[in-house]
Amino acid sequence: MAKSKVIYTCSNCGATSPKWIGKCPQCGDWNTYEEEVLVDKKKTNAIVAQAQATEVFSIEEVPLLQEIRLTTVSEEFNRVFGGGIVSGSVNLVAGEPGIGKSTLLLQIALAYEGKILYFSGEESLSQISLRAKRIRQNTNPQCLFSNEKDLSKVLATVKAHNVKLVVIDSIQTISHENSEFLVGSIPQMKEATQAIIDFAKTNNVAFILIGHINKDGQVAGPKVLEHMVDAVFQFEGDKHYFYRLLRPLKNRFGSTNEVAVYEMLDNGLREVINPSEFLVPDHLTESGIAIASVVEGSRSFFIEVQALVTPAVYSAPQRTVTGYDTKRLNMLLSVLEKRLKLRFSSKDVFLNIVGGLRVNDTAIDLAVVVALASSFFDKPIAAENCFMGEVGLAGEIRPVKRIDTRLGDLKKYKFSTVFLPKQLTDDQVKQQNSLFVVKRINEIIKQLFR
Ligand code: TYD
Ligand code: MG
Repeated sequence: MAKSKVIYTCSNCGATSPKWIGKCPQCGDWNTYEEEVLVDKKKTNAIVAQAQATEVFSIEEVPLLQEIRLTTVSEEFNRVFGGGIVSGSVNLVAGEPGIGKSTLLLQIALAYEGKILYFSGEESLSQISLRAKRIRQNTNPQCLFSNEKDLSKVLATVKAHNVKLVVIDSIQTISHENSEFLVGSIPQMKEATQAIIDFAKTNNVAFILIGHINKDGQVAGPKVLEHMVDAVFQFEGDKHYFYRLLRPLKNRFGSTNEVAVYEMLDNGLREVINPSEFLVPDHLTESGIAIASVVEGSRSFFIEVQALVTPAVYSAPQRTVTGYDTKRLNMLLSVLEKRLKLRFSSKDVFLNIVGGLRVNDTAIDLAVVVALASSFFDKPIAAENCFMGEVGLAGEIRPVKRIDTRLGDLKKYKFSTVFLPKQLTDDQVKQQNSLFVVKRINEIIKQLFR
């Protein structure tokens, strides 16, 4: 009989290789390759030959199940889930260590109006109790805690208490008694998650799994878990700042255009209902500042672009850039020089994308162009304007990708004017009175500064 084949899979990006390699050629990460045993094809064929055909259904024959949503007291949380947590669903809340995942779910659990179980393999019960005191929230006596990490015992407890909502903090700590895999390893998490999914569907219990992500922002062991679970939410933010975003990366039961904003305070997380209070900076009255709509991967957000244009100190003018491609800046400066006769060749130019983020989305071009022009003319851009559009060599403003996502997010942030390329129908533009279509950069410069 043929031997089972072994392949090696990168736990970071999912690339495969027939032999173990130290550095992944696809994502460049080190020591991420893990062994995976492939099922022997001949064996599969033999099994198929013996198996009986199963029953199949047409859509009309399938009974429609009423979708039941479990709602928490947090409106923002419910909204991001698509109107509450769907019963029987398995949801993953992922984020970097220390970002506030446990705090968020503890707050949700303590305030939940109903029975809920919180399994913490990460922290002792006394640590949780201390945290609960810190949050100082009215606590739900039906919210019960356990340090159990063994999956069979966890699921047996869920059954015994007849709860419909369970938090597992974190999926990386869950062990499986009969498993041959290491706790926290990819195959182990995959196995545990699959068991949880099976249990959730048969018993109609909703699970929220907490998962850590690695430095690149991917859910650890992620490719596998992302595909399995019903929804994945990323809890993100810069640990040095107070703001945190809960963002769906995938949601079988709702839109991925939603985002919930929280602020980490001394006594827990606070919902930020109006995110523009921090996304739109209050120093927008200075020249050289513009807000861009940006989509990176599956995420859409708004970001501040700052430009400073000063008379050149040396004969060769300086170009200093953070968070944006220097070559692209040079291209845009040449476009401004050629199409609008703005003499940047005698100016030093500094460009900064605020927040330490590096942006690859070319839709940020328009905000870069107006920020540069704003500093050049030393005329500020009126507050609450937002820009999106790629700028071409002819000075034309080109369509952006994922416009629906951007417009979906815009509704939440309430910008008074959104400058965008011509890519929607006239009706779509009329429906939202804040949209202003621009085809060329000279139009927008005229509109803003003359
Ligand atoms: P935590 O929820 O433990 O993060 P995670 O589960 O994602 O690893 O959050 C830890 C951080 O949050 C820690 O640095 C302390 C801070 N924090 C506050 O600032 N205020 C609070 O009320 C709480 C509970 C935590
Ligand atoms: Mg935690």
